[in-house]
Amino acid sequence: MQTGLACFTFLLLWTQTVAGRTYYVTKSGKDTNAGTSETSAWLTVQKAANSATPGSTVYIGPGTYYETVTVNVQGNARDGLITFASLIFDKPAVISGKQAKTESADGTMNIIFIQEKSYLRFVNLELTDLKAVECSGVRITGAGTNVELRGLHIHDIRGGGQSGGAMPITVYNKDQTASRRQVIVDSCILHDCEPAWSEALTFNGNIEDFQVTNNKVYNMNNIGIDFIGGESFLGALGVRNGLCAYNLVWNIHSVYDSSSAGIYVDGASNVTIESNEVHHSDMGIEVGAENKGRVASKMTVRNNYLHHNDKYGLAFGGYDSQRGQVTNSLFINNRLEQNDVRLTGGGEISISFASGNVVYGNTIRPNSQNVILLASQEGGLNNQFDYQKYYPNGQGATKESLIFFWGNTEYDGLTSFQQNTKQEMHAELGVSKRAFGRKRFFL
Ligand SMILES: *[C@@H]1O[C@H](CO)[C@@H](O)[C@H](O)[C@H]1NC(C)=O
Repeated sequence: MQTGLACFTFLLLWTQTVAGRTYYVTKSGKDTNAGTSETSAWLTVQKAANSATPGSTVYIGPGTYYETVTVNVQGNARDGLITFASLIFDKPAVISGKQAKTESADGTMNIIFIQEKSYLRFVNLELTDLKAVECSGVRITGAGTNVELRGLHIHDIRGGGQSGGAMPITVYNKDQTASRRQVIVDSCILHDCEPAWSEALTFNGNIEDFQVTNNKVYNMNNIGIDFIGGESFLGALGVRNGLCAYNLVWNIHSVYDSSSAGIYVDGASNVTIESNEVHHSDMGIEVGAENKGRVASKMTVRNNYLHHNDKYGLAFGGYDSQRGQVTNSLFINNRLEQNDVRLTGGGEISISFASGNVVYGNTIRPNSQNVILLASQEGGLNNQFDYQKYYPNGQGATKESLIFFWGNTEYDGLTSFQQNTKQEMHAELGVSKRAFGRKRFFL
């Protein structure tokens, strides 16, 4: 009995110690060290990514580490995640791709590469200075669970060129039998990259139960945040069942067609996109389905503040008559203000190739065109549009100054729109001339 108990106690202590272990990487370390104290630290992040044990924390000292890191370890449900974090909070470790030569297993270049690994957390690190046609700051591929990216600062990932993508964060899974789940991207700052033909923060393929929150994304030459399903190279299963909230996205402009949304959904389903702000981009939020036969459905887009974008504040619908549809989604309680800066005539909201969706309770302050809606004849009309609150723009402007395009007809004035389409029967009018502003939005 005694021996058994002692043995059990020993085992318990031993597993707890290993699980709770702390490792160190510093600029003055050596990879032949034990890595278990600051004075016996390792030199490279890669050494830690080969050696850290489940449940441990790897602290990385200040300075710049010229590496591309493939994560070969992982945590587990019992011992917990492996955490990689900066040793000194206000001197984040920098991992630079400036001297990168080694491609990851899938042929792309990445500062941090995670393939089919689980239970990992990266906190408060700066990832920068990588240049390649296909590259990422963090690239996560394959199935797995519980990967967290928190407080990462990723910038100057470049070289996307005319066909590739230099992406701050990429999460792809083409495995049709096992999903990538429980991915958290929180409080990251992503800026000045060249996603080009790809996207800045992208989830694509068999991915579910995710959270993209509190991030800042800006100065990108294509789409900001994207949730994708139905691209043939990643299989039929698409991104689903997640949350995209409290992100701030601006200065997102496509390098090739001036129609990048700050936040974009392409064929994903059941994603809640709420309380984000998108401004000074090609478009605010767009929900679409680019691939043939694909349906983006059960989306909830609510309480977002979309303003001063070049084209629409909010757009939804499939791509063209040959491709997808958007159905059974809610677009409610958003604030749209002074979009269509380029005066394309499209106005604040665009609907096409979509049905069974509800656009209710949005607050809209158009620019001097006073154009509210462009609902296309092809698949724009089978949706419900009501309860919006309008602030007509201009001296002496009234509800009859508002312009709606419904199918092939232009309706000048709210009354004419209501009488002819029976849409927007419960519209409200606001009177304040004061711009919405962020303060009033984030109460
Ligand atoms: C939608 O996603 C949420 C998680 O964000 C999940 O709890 C819910 O069950 C999903 N609904 C459906 C119908 O799949």
